[in-house]
Amino acid sequence: MPFDILKKEVVTLLQQPKKSVDDRLTEVCVLLQERIGYYDWVGFYFANHDTKTLHLEAFAGEPTDHTEIPFGKGICGQVAESNANFVVPDVKAQNNYIACSIYVKAEIVIPLFKDGINMGQIDIDSHTADPFSPEDEEFLVWVNAEVAKIL
Ligand code: SME
Repeated sequence: MPFDILKKEVVTLLQQPKKSVDDRLTEVCVLLQERIGYYDWVGFYFANHDTKTLHLEAFAGEPTDHTEIPFGKGICGQVAESNANFVVPDVKAQNNYIACSIYVKAEIVIPLFKDGINMGQIDIDSHTADPFSPEDEEFLVWVNAEVAKIL
């Protein structure tokens, strides 16, 4: 997986000060979704800590109905509370899971921290079973750290 090449492109997309943060995040989602074959849907959810809900800020892939997710609900909502990476090799094995598409077989959600606060997360859905490796996790932690710099 050419994560090193992608990292350079992510940095370039995030360093476009004339564009809004949402536009830059959407471009990052499109890059990852187009270039990594098993990333079928890529999105950033951001947390509202007052209402304890996650809100979809940017994405690439099929539109989803789940633009707002309460903390605790689904894989995303659990990560809002646990502050921990959540790799799901088989979504059917999860009880607390929100299905976005019948084609999704696996999911990875990585929390995004700024100054130690869980600001939200990057969420990837895959139509491939068990596709995510520790390299994906490491890459997505890196992506979130880069995004945190522009928040
Ligand atoms: N599957 C997620 C919901 C978000 S969609 O994948 C876009 C979950 O269980 O939280």
